[in-house]
Amino acid sequence: RGGINMIPVIFHVITDGVGGDNLSAAAIQAQLDQLNIDYANLAGSSYGSAADTQIQFCLAQVDENGVQLNEPGINRVTTYGGGPFSTGQIQSNIKADTQWDPEQYMNIWTANISGGILGYAQFPDPAGTGIDGLDPGDVGPVGAANTDGVVIAANSVGSVANPNPLGAPYNKGRTLTHEAGHWLGLRHIWGDNWAEGQPNNASCGDDDFCADTPNSGRPNFGCPTGINTCPTSAGIDMIENYMDYTDDSCMDTFTANQVSRVLAVITNSPRRANLL
Ligand code: ARG
Ligand code: ZN
Ligand code: CA
Repeated sequence: RGGINMIPVIFHVITDGVGGDNLSAAAIQAQLDQLNIDYANLAGSSYGSAADTQIQFCLAQVDENGVQLNEPGINRVTTYGGGPFSTGQIQSNIKADTQWDPEQYMNIWTANISGGILGYAQFPDPAGTGIDGLDPGDVGPVGAANTDGVVIAANSVGSVANPNPLGAPYNKGRTLTHEAGHWLGLRHIWGDNWAEGQPNNASCGDDDFCADTPNSGRPNFGCPTGINTCPTSAGIDMIENYMDYTDDSCMDTFTANQVSRVLAVITNSPRRANLL
């Protein structure tokens, strides 16, 4: 396809060298394949508003010094052991020590994470394009460059074709699809009201700045049908959207408005624009 924006990724596999955290190259490839299926709108969405993001991801072939990688896209790190790690440990030590140039690579860390956390991401720096929600002041907290990237639990790495046996119902790779969405500037479909500091608040007044994702008041879990958390506004919750909290097997949709936002970020965010 023409006009595809290709982002090189490096998976930092934080592991003690044995067990499920020592993800195989095949598992990483399956995860990458799922990410690309989802970002190409090939997951089977039934929504007319579903769209191809025109973004794809490839395994980095060379390290920061230009040396060919034995395992493309994979940096195995055994210096910290196998965890489980708190997000505090990951934020204050592991990320800065192991990160590759965030303007050259999308950094993805996989690890055993404590507290049942599936993953988390850092938003882009402001894209400043006049697109509501992506300008300075309304992108939410912008993290430091040396923590830029995405963290996902090792047991969330997988795909529809090759689900991770450790993590159902979050074992088909949609955690990375979701976190990469945040990394590209997408909010949860129920909105994240930074002013209130409560990303999960039960408010239909918060917006994800996408008119084609029906207003939603809170995260949804499982795979519910006919849920309408904001009955006073049009449309039932789009629980199939990657930016909800539903099961991996339920998710299959990014919308055209979400695509506009990620393309604005990839074009205008200083930290993202040079990746291509
Ligand atoms: N709770 C996480 C977040 O807000 C990830 C949710 C992922 N959901 C999934 N079905 N894999 O970033
Ligand atoms: Zn999220
Ligand atoms: Ca919306």
